[in-house]
Amino acid sequence: PLMLPGKNVINLGALAAFIALTVWYVNDSQLWLLIVVTILALGLGWHLVASIGGGDMPVVVSMLNSYSGWAAAAAGFLLNNDLLIITGALVGSSGAYLSYIMCKAMNRSFISVIAGGFGIAAPAAADAEYGEHREITAQATAEMLANASSVVITPGYGMAVAQAQYPVAELAHQLREKGVNVRFGIHPVAGRLPGHMNVLLAEAKVPYDIVLEMDEINDDLGDTSVVLVIGANDTVNPSAAEDPGSPIAGMPVLRVWEAENVIVFKRSMAAGYAGVQNPLFYRDNSQMLFGDAKTRVEDILKAF
Ligand code: TAP
Repeated sequence: PLMLPGKNVINLGALAAFIALTVWYVNDSQLWLLIVVTILALGLGWHLVASIGGGDMPVVVSMLNSYSGWAAAAAGFLLNNDLLIITGALVGSSGAYLSYIMCKAMNRSFISVIAGGFGIAAPAAADAEYGEHREITAQATAEMLANASSVVITPGYGMAVAQAQYPVAELAHQLREKGVNVRFGIHPVAGRLPGHMNVLLAEAKVPYDIVLEMDEINDDLGDTSVVLVIGANDTVNPSAAEDPGSPIAGMPVLRVWEAENVIVFKRSMAAGYAGVQNPLFYRDNSQMLFGDAKTRVEDILKAF
């Protein structure tokens, strides 16, 4: 996020000037006033959005969608066009509702986010020292899975990128045939839109009854033999729960680190969407399976 000193004063000042100039323009329609109001609105809009970073960005994208709806509805009132009012109100209210759901899922204050990320600190640039990570092969993962009694798969954005849902569904199917209790744990903002993971898994014909929401699965993770984190990062980051100084502190996450073993499928040690490093990768019970998620899951299927 862009952190200008006194940003709330700047926003409030710009808003007050905007209102005053608008009233002036309504009483005395001079073109230069309209131009100044337009420039002020552009500046305010840019500043409100630039002040928001990390995990709060999706909320802003859907808020902007909502604003465009309200602008269309306002234009509808000016032009006396009922259709524009109705479609504008639909876009405006659905965007606002979506933003509200996202804020709740991420434990963020709706008002703070739309007021320009009030109180959010920029993430510290320095990399904390977490220690060494361990790697595992697809062959060893297959052996571990075959000996497991329960497996939870927590997919994220990387599963969508790799289009890995079909081999993942096949993996779940084969493990269930071996008598392993397999379930999926879905974080409300995993992926890039609400329900993203559910749609992908439904497409790959994963039975609905083994696809559980975060709150339904979180308490069972401690008794799970193996958690497969497939292309997820921020949604399984322990610092959200344990480090009050983290930029994603307070966001509810899947507590995968409580499981006996965690295997993380990703291509590198890079950070996730919020740009924060994930201490999960360095825990004693975690191992990294590097590479494209689809190829790696197919390798496990071959090893079976
Ligand atoms: P992210 O934190 O986005 O992490 C995805 C991980 O997938 C990355 O660390 C990446 O690591 C890995 N990846 C990418 N391509 C891959 C591939 N082909 N194979 C294997 N791994 C791959 O994922 P998340 O846990 O799903 O979290 C979602 C994030 O998006 C949250 O921060 C959320 O706030 C935000 N967001 C959510 C929404 C909604 S509503 N769902 C909307 C917009 C944004 P490598 O690069 O190392 O492979």
